[in-house]
Amino acid sequence: MKILGISGSPRPGGNTDTLLLEALRGASHQGADTTFVALRDLSISPCSGHPDCASRAACHHTDDFQALSYQFLSSDAVILATPVYYWNMSAQMKTFVDRNYFNYKHEGYMDARAAGIIIVAASEGFDETEQAMRNFLVSGGQFTGAPDALAVLRAQAGYRLEAKQQPALLKAAEDFGAGIALKVSQTR
Ligand SMILES: Cc1cc2nc3c(=O)[nH]c(=O)nc-3n(C[C@H](O)[C@H](O)[C@H](O)COP(=O)(O)O)c2cc1C
Repeated sequence: MKILGISGSPRPGGNTDTLLLEALRGASHQGADTTFVALRDLSISPCSGHPDCASRAACHHTDDFQALSYQFLSSDAVILATPVYYWNMSAQMKTFVDRNYFNYKHEGYMDARAAGIIIVAASEGFDETEQAMRNFLVSGGQFTGAPDALAVLRAQAGYRLEAKQQPALLKAAEDFGAGIALKVSQTR
């Protein structure tokens, strides 16, 4: 069982990374083979918005998106984690999301039977960010798993090490990841 975790935080070792790593740890305890990817470490250009995207054989960008996209589409579960930036996902996550438009236009949907969204904010913007992430995965059609196989974890943390100092939150993230792995096992 392959589970891919994608962090959209530009801040290494911050709250988003911390909680995603805990979630992946929980998943690995359930037997998952986990991979952590930080978008900040990759070179992914923004979507160019070509009107003929659907009829192109390939996206004109040749960057790190292609390899990540393969992992994203072929994993048994995916966890997307983002900090809230101005009531929305981070720029890194939005760039990744937009580049999926080529996949969407070419019917390249996720194989994943379970998915998770982790949203981290100092105080506000959870609803708006969850809606935007859900719109990508569900309304945008990328995630084709059952509605109850999409889970969301909201975490309140502002300064860089705040999540690390909340044992209950770390445990919630670990349980969240374990739950996603269990969901995959149950839908085999
Ligand atoms: C550019 C920017 C915009 C932000 N916008 C919000 C926001 O709209 N709502 C909020 O509660 N926190 C906001 N924050 C705070 C972050 O969501 C918070 O610090 C979070 O813990 C960052 O996650 P990280 O440690 O993984 O980087 C913002 C931070 C930055 C740098």
